[in-house]
This record gives sequence, structure tokens and C-alpha cells, in this order.
Amino acid sequence: MEPMAIREIKTFPDPVLRKKTAAVGAIDEELCRLIDDMVETMHAAPGVGLAANQVGVPLQVAVIDIGDHEEEGKKRPLVVLINPEVVSLEGTVVAEEGCLSVPDLTEKVKRAARIKVRAKDRAGKTFELEADGLMAKALQHEIDHLNGILFIDRLSPIKKSIFRRRMKKAMAETA
Ligand code: NI
Repeated sequence: MEPMAIREIKTFPDPVLRKKTAAVGAIDEELCRLIDDMVETMHAAPGVGLAANQVGVPLQVAVIDIGDHEEEGKKRPLVVLINPEVVSLEGTVVAEEGCLSVPDLTEKVKRAARIKVRAKDRAGKTFELEADGLMAKALQHEIDHLNGILFIDRLSPIKKSIFRRRMKKAMAETA
């Protein structure tokens, strides 16, 4: 086995971020390599979550590691999600969000306060995860990625148009 590798993170407006990802069939060595690389890439960034299409692989795989970001001294375990489905959503909460694929932007996003997700782990075992707080936010953000949705899509129309103008300006400057 080759050692783990940090992969390039695709950024907006890369079209790979906009395509709905495909369900994973077999969990083979190549998929395990992808998961290892995603974890490595997420930690190196650093970020708390990463979806496979963010490294250019259009498959339903995401990793989340909120560590002790939510509560100091209380480390939450790394979560690997293969073919995740949302079982239920409850309540609403507005919280600051950012994304490794949309550098230098954080904005308040409205999300469900609690979520229940069903997915397979890297051993192929189905599990359910219920979460609130930062984990609920990360789960919704990463599952959005797998459906080709970015957090900027969930901003208010005014915030969206500000973002679009800023992007146009940045692209004109680099062209
Ligand atoms: Ni993201």
C-alpha cells in the first residue's frame, strides 16, 4: 500500500462540486484509499468535514472530524459516511458556516437543529447517527455537497448577490 496522500481540494466554481454524486457499490481497497486520503486532506487543510467530490471523486463518501471544536477537552470521534441518507430533520438553527471549497467566506446559514442520518461505515456496516450542534451542521453541509449543493446556495438572496459580485470581480482580476 502506498502511504496516504493529500489530495487537491476543488474550489468554486469547479463543476465537479455541482454534480450529484453516485452511490458507492463495493467498498474495496481503492475506496479505502480514498477515505484515508480524504481524512488526511481534511486534517491538513484544516477542516472539520470533506466530501469526495471536493477532491474530484463523484461518489457518496464524506468524512467529518469535529474533534474538540464543540467542547474543549471532549473529543468526538471521526465519522466516515458512505451512501448517507437523511432519516429525519428537526427544528431550525442559524450558525456561521464556511467551506474548504469556498475559501475566505463565512456566513450565517439556516439549518435543521437536529438530524438523524443512516449510512455505511468503511467496513460496510449500516449505522445511524443522531446529532445536534456542530455535528448536525457538518452532517447537513457534507450531505449537501454529495448532492451538488454548496452552503452559498443557502444564503439569503442579498448575500448571494454580494457573493456573486465578489466572485466576478476576483475572476476578472485573475483573468
Ligand atoms: Ni464544504
